[in-house]
Amino acid sequence: MIEVDGVSYAYRTGEADAVPALRELDLQIEPGQLVAIIGHNGSGKSTLVKLLTAVLYPTEGGIRVDGVPVDREHQWEVRRKVSVVFQDPDDQLVMNRVEDDVAFGPENLGLPRQEISERVASSLEELGLTEIKDRLVEDLSAGQKQRVAIAGALAMRPRFLILDEPTSLLPVPVALRLISTVRELHRRENMGVLHVTHSMSEAVLFDRVVVLEAGRKILDGTPAEVFRHVERLREVGLDVPLAASLAHRLRARGIPLSGDVLDAADLRRAVSAATGARAPSEHPG
Ligand SMILES: Nc1ncnc2c1ncn2[C@@H]1O[C@H](COP(=O)(O)OP(=O)(O)O)[C@@H](O)[C@H]1O
Ligand SMILES: [Mg+2]
Repeated sequence: MIEVDGVSYAYRTGEADAVPALRELDLQIEPGQLVAIIGHNGSGKSTLVKLLTAVLYPTEGGIRVDGVPVDREHQWEVRRKVSVVFQDPDDQLVMNRVEDDVAFGPENLGLPRQEISERVASSLEELGLTEIKDRLVEDLSAGQKQRVAIAGALAMRPRFLILDEPTSLLPVPVALRLISTVRELHRRENMGVLHVTHSMSEAVLFDRVVVLEAGRKILDGTPAEVFRHVERLREVGLDVPLAASLAHRLRARGIPLSGDVLDAADLRRAVSAATGARAPSEHPG
C-alpha cells in the first residue's frame, strides 16, 4: 500500500521564495488499485510522481510504500517497489537495442543472469515486443518506444507502476491500446497502477480518479463520483467526458436522467429510461 500522509513539497529555487507544489496531501493507494490522477498543468502531478519514486523528498509529512519510508536511506528499496514511466520515452530509454534497454533496470538490481533473461523475455512478450527485440530504439515509433519504456519498468517487477502522462505524445488509438495493455497487466500481475493523464476518456477507464488542483487533492472517488462534479471540474479548467457533460446539460433542463453517465452507452440507456422509450426486447415483433 502507498500511504501519503500530510505531504507538502516546495521547490527551493535558490532565492528566498520557495514554490509550493503540493500542500497537505493525504492519499492511500491499495495494492492492485487502478488509479487515474488528473489535474491542470502545474497542479502538482509530476511532483507527486517524483515523491513516490524517491526522486524528491517531502518538505513536510511522510510517505510509505508497503511500510518502507520514502527517504534517502530507503531510496533503492522504494525504487524496487515503484517503477515509473515518463511522458517522453526519449528521456528514459538509455540503451541502443530494445532488449538491452529492457534489461538495464534488472541488471542494475544485480539479479542473477538467468533471472534477468527470464524477466526480460516475459516483459518483451507482454508488451508485444519480442519480434522487435533486436531493433534499435531510435528506429521505433513513439508508441513502440513507450512500450519499451513500460517493458523496462515491468522487468523490475514493481508492486506499483506509475505512468506520468505516457500517452500525451501518442495518437489517440495508440494511446488507448496502451491503456488497455496496462489494464491487462494490472489484472494479471495484481500490480497497482497510477496513471497521470490529461485525457478524460482515459480517466474513465480507471477504478478511481484523483483530482489535483494547486497542489491539493480536490476530488477522489470512482469515475462516476468524480465526473458528477461538472461545475467544480470546469472551475479548475478540466473537462468532463462528453457523455457526462451532455447528461449534466439535460438534467439542468429538467430531464431526470438516472444512474451514472460516463459514456455513450450509459447516455443512451438513461435517455431511453427518462423518455419512456422501451428497450427493443420489450417490443416483440
Ligand atoms: N524544478 C522545479 N523548480 C521550481 N518549480 C517547479 C519545478 N518543477 C515544478 N515546479 C512547480 O511546481 C508546481 C507543480 O508542478 P508539476 O508537479 O510539474 O505539475 P504538473 O505535473 O501537474 O503539471 C508548478 O507550480 C511548477 O511550476
Ligand atoms: Mg507533469
